[in-house]
Amino acid sequence: MKKNVFILCSMIISGLIFFSACQDLSVEQQFTGTPNLPLEVADYESIQFPAHFSFGIGVDSLFDNGFFPNIINSGSQLNPPVTDHGATLGRVLFYDTQLSINNSVSCATCHDQSKAFADGITGSVGFAGKITPRNSMALVNPSMNNNLFWDSRVQSLPQLILEPIQNHIEMGMEDLNVLTKKLAATDYYPDLFAKAYGDKQVTKIRIADAVSQFLGAMKSVDSKFDKGVQNNFTNFTAMERLGFNIFHSEKNQCASCHNGSNFSAPDFPGGEYGGGGDSFTIDNEGNIIDFNGNGEGRAGTTNIGLDLVAKDEGRGNGNFRIPSLRNIGLTAPYMHDGRFTTLAEVVEHYNSGVQAHPNLDDKFKNQDGTIKRLNLTSVEKQALVAFLHTLTDESLITDERFSNPFTK
Ligand code: HEC
Ligand code: HEC
Repeated sequence: MKKNVFILCSMIISGLIFFSACQDLSVEQQFTGTPNLPLEVADYESIQFPAHFSFGIGVDSLFDNGFFPNIINSGSQLNPPVTDHGATLGRVLFYDTQLSINNSVSCATCHDQSKAFADGITGSVGFAGKITPRNSMALVNPSMNNNLFWDSRVQSLPQLILEPIQNHIEMGMEDLNVLTKKLAATDYYPDLFAKAYGDKQVTKIRIADAVSQFLGAMKSVDSKFDKGVQNNFTNFTAMERLGFNIFHSEKNQCASCHNGSNFSAPDFPGGEYGGGGDSFTIDNEGNIIDFNGNGEGRAGTTNIGLDLVAKDEGRGNGNFRIPSLRNIGLTAPYMHDGRFTTLAEVVEHYNSGVQAHPNLDDKFKNQDGTIKRLNLTSVEKQALVAFLHTLTDESLITDERFSNPFTK
């Protein structure tokens, strides 16, 4: 009898231990890494967008008029200018799992350099094993976007960076004072902060600034398409040329949404997809103040008829960000929920799969309101996919300046 009680008790106790070992994922994992940085600081400042970078003819003047405050080679009010030491600090932070509450997840967990900073899975896995509701986004020329996230809810990088760190699924570091103390206690961060900002103070505003600089330096400008711009596309195969023409044709409309040399649609006042322009300022504490965002306007989003009834409404009415198609060959699975595994499936969606959602973009409708079918031949579909692959920049994904500096 006594023995049975003992066995029962030990079963309960070991069950509890087992249970808590599985459950308590917030227990800190030991962090032992140190960043291995080049002796001479790496050059980030001179990475620039080439002249052909624009959002298409006629739109360029908007840059000059300041409608895109955070874009193109300079820094601005919203995105900070890139310095070599600032971006270096940003690189270390980006790859550091100490930014998560239990030292298990870094930005790079869900933004992997070899996949153009996407992660190759439908929903990403956060610090406690929970899955994000949306597909991780590739980081493609992020300083060119003034409409970030799948629902364009954020306008600039510094405004975005602290979100995943605090997010209850992603990194779980709700109290940023815990983070600043943790980083200040390491033997390398104080020096890295001093090099970037003149003194050793670790603050959340500096964390957001440095990671923004690192992302701002990430410029994907060396694809087959970019080389083609220089040589009148003589480097393209016949299929790629055919795909280029299909993409840019009046009938198929791809380029009317995935616009210009970044193949994206930023938010600008008066534009077809514009009008979400929220403004804000950040105080010394890193808090967002004067945010006048009211969620109105489309901010470069639209509804492409993925579903009759959308499960995720995105910015509202099933509208989602028109993403850049640069590096699209590396960033499967596709769409906000990662529903398509291949580019051929994406093309088939546009060709024959568009659903009659009440808010469907007019570009997918005939004059009588019925849904337009592209009726592409199988060769045309293959050509379109071949063209999309010309947007892949192989140098970004192997550039050491954007790689993991931590040695195990
Ligand atoms: C657990 C996975 C996960 C982690 C960790 C994570 N992200 Fe993300 N990231 C995502 C997902 C998912 C989205 C899309 C979210 C949405 O649209 O609501 C995203 C979107 C973004 C975007 C928007 C890109 C665009 O073009 O709009 C940026 C920038 C970004 N993340 C940077 C970071 C940084 C910097 C960190 C580290 C501080 C980080 N992420 C950590 C999963 C993650
Ligand atoms: C009316 C605007 C519009 C048109 C026209 C359009 N797209 Fe898109 N595209 C979008 C939006 C919006 C998304 C994101 C939708 C989502 O995730 O819910 C998207 C997503 C994509 C994606 C996946 C991107 C990713 O990161 O997952 C690819 C690839 C793509 N489009 C290619 C094309 C091609 C090829 C054409 C022409 C046949 C085309 N698009 C026409 C608006 C458009």
